[in-house]
Amino acid sequence: MDASSKPVSPLLLDWYDSHARVLPWRAPPGAPLPDPYRVWLSEVMLQQTTVAAVKSYFAEFTRRWPTVRDLAAADEGEVMAAWAGLGYYARARNLLACAREVAARGGAFPDTEAELRALPGLGAYTAAAVAAIAFGRRAVVVDANVERVVARLFDLRTPLPGVRPAIRAAAETITPDQRAGDFAQAMMDLGATICTSRNPRCLLCPLSALCEARAAGDPEALPVKAPKKAKLQRQGRAFWIERDDAVWLVRRPGRGMLGGMRALPDDGWHAGSDGTAPPPLAGPWEAAGSVSHGFTHFGLDLHLALYLGADWASLGGDEGEWWPLDRLEEAGLPTLFAKAARRALAATGEDA
Ligand code: ADE
Repeated sequence: MDASSKPVSPLLLDWYDSHARVLPWRAPPGAPLPDPYRVWLSEVMLQQTTVAAVKSYFAEFTRRWPTVRDLAAADEGEVMAAWAGLGYYARARNLLACAREVAARGGAFPDTEAELRALPGLGAYTAAAVAAIAFGRRAVVVDANVERVVARLFDLRTPLPGVRPAIRAAAETITPDQRAGDFAQAMMDLGATICTSRNPRCLLCPLSALCEARAAGDPEALPVKAPKKAKLQRQGRAFWIERDDAVWLVRRPGRGMLGGMRALPDDGWHAGSDGTAPPPLAGPWEAAGSVSHGFTHFGLDLHLALYLGADWASLGGDEGEWWPLDRLEEAGLPTLFAKAARRALAATGEDA
């Protein structure tokens, strides 16, 4: 059978009708289209993040900001704090910019892929996903799960990322005109639950009879990945300054790593260099170990220094704030600094 005549979509949609995952942002298979705001919010959260990790954030965001207008009216610091722990913080800044733009246009998301693509933070993937899922538009939606399914179905053996145009072209040939959103999500569910990276469950797969990599005998070998580059390991320092059961926290600059998030002061480490900036106070300082964190393009050892002095006067008033230790959970620290704070509290003998 030639690849483009594979009867993939009827088989897959039949499977989806009885196996779709029940997810809070979804309409059940065949049901009326879901709320575009909820679809858009979930798709932004799901970029680079697992369904399991997203669920509680999605529940909290939609509880606090049930519509795009509510989100548009929210305070940026509160949105950033609510996003803390999800990572890739540029997504949260773009989320708010996009909500404000949609609210300014009257509160309705545009319903074509091209117009969606023009909104802040919507890349090709998100625009296609929202067009298909929220508006039923035919769109070719390719995330990492779909990439794996298609590479196997068509036995595409060129390594990533070079294989992507071929995957897209193959995905185009199997995307139906009807039930575009169900089809996209069925591909995602198949990739997440059956056509998994390791040990694919081909015996349960509705597409196994059509799958060329299965016929070749090694579906788990696809997609072929380019050899991993060794990640750089960066060194940085973070400074714990405590006074009267409060800790000095700063707001990171809007652009750059963890931009716009509340944080411990640090020495300016970033993807391009180890940190070099001096501590915010002259000292004395005591080392209190380190925490490690993996970013996409580098790893970081963040060494913690505890301030032992009592000369706080030179800390700039509007550059930071004294945050009560018993409300540290509410500061919205990104995971790296939450780890560092736990380490500091353990080192100072306070609650970890
Ligand atoms: N990953 C990204 N978008 C998704 C969706 N709509 N359903 C399940 N997994 C997803």
